Amino acid sequence: MFEALPEPKLDALVLVGQAFRADKRPDKLDLGVGVYRDAEGATPILEVVKKAEAQLQATQPTKSYLPPDGDPDFVSLMQKQILGSYDGRSAAVQAPGGTGAFHQALALLNKAGASGTIWVGTPTWPNHIPMAMHHGLAVETYEHYRIATQSQTFDLMVEALQTAKADDVILLHGCCHNPTGADLSAEQWHTIGDIIVHRGLIPLIDFAYQGFGRSSDEDAAGVRGLLSRVPRALVAASCSKSFSLYRERTGILIAQCSNSEEASRVGGTLQSLARLNYSNPPGHGAAIVRTILSDDGLRAAWQSELTQMRDRVRSIRLLLSEVGEARGLNLGFIKNQIGLFTTFDLTPAQAQTMGRDYAIHMPNTGRINIAGLTSKTVDRFVSALKTVSRR
Ligand SMILES: Cc1ncc(COP(=O)(O)O)c(C=O)c1O
Repeated sequence: MFEALPEPKLDALVLVGQAFRADKRPDKLDLGVGVYRDAEGATPILEVVKKAEAQLQATQPTKSYLPPDGDPDFVSLMQKQILGSYDGRSAAVQAPGGTGAFHQALALLNKAGASGTIWVGTPTWPNHIPMAMHHGLAVETYEHYRIATQSQTFDLMVEALQTAKADDVILLHGCCHNPTGADLSAEQWHTIGDIIVHRGLIPLIDFAYQGFGRSSDEDAAGVRGLLSRVPRALVAASCSKSFSLYRERTGILIAQCSNSEEASRVGGTLQSLARLNYSNPPGHGAAIVRTILSDDGLRAAWQSELTQMRDRVRSIRLLLSEVGEARGLNLGFIKNQIGLFTTFDLTPAQAQTMGRDYAIHMPNTGRINIAGLTSKTVDRFVSALKTVSRR
């Protein structure tokens, strides 16, 4: 019966990874996968993570199962890290990475009988729309940002959401929008909050890059402000980037509910969904994060390493803008954006030419991971971009 399966569609980023691995040129660059890279092009384990791991190795009493909702200390520390504080009307569960948290959110919405429609601003992370469809939601899109003019299209977002119906879900990026680096301003978060309250919508916030744009608290300001104004919200957060824990699959889903009874029903439902899906989450990453967040010294060391990662990305943004201007390319928009990504106005064929002719691998959408560049490669990248965009 497997022969009846439709042809599988591989994610654009998986294809970039394959092309990169097959490329034998020594100067090849991978600007695809969304991981932080240092000036040597490596994605190192944070020093603070190694310290936490050493502590765990010496003291961890067991590798027995976690409960379906995960490590309770990890969950409460992360809730505080994300929300700033927490009250009794949130339910939260540990999840296998940000993707697992997003999956749990969609499964919960499905089970709760949400209207069946999710509003998604485009462009977006390539997994959002397929995952929403996989969970049976109908996807409505609006333009979040226009790559051709490198400008935000907030009016179109407002216009679209004003046609949304009660219980429709609205997907928001908490910070460091992937793939445009263009976040909502405080005023725009406020306007969206008004629409959510007025139309009875449910925000689902994907929060995968806290601390990669500005400080951890500044990056959380939009999310915290929104949650203080809306009755219900879901926040799917990841520790992959902020703690550099990618393969440890560490994340959390927070569900803000309208009261504590509702929170307890939602919490129980999330536990049963976890049990059905993966039974219980992986332990190691959560133990590392718990160890770091519960110790003032380790927490400060983590913040300092996070700042170094953020500063490096910021310096490459500035350099790209400068070198672009010097070469007659208008790349000034890059310095006004935040986080790991920006997207260029390239056709799929032009993006492929970057890989084929210049060994600079990026998805067909024209998105790049800024951290894939270094002060030594920016020049080469901008030259290739200039030649390719003229074709
Ligand atoms: C916007 C966004 N959401 C979620 C994720 C998933 O993160 P994780 O690796 O923790 O599953 C990513 C990863 O690249 C992302 O860019």
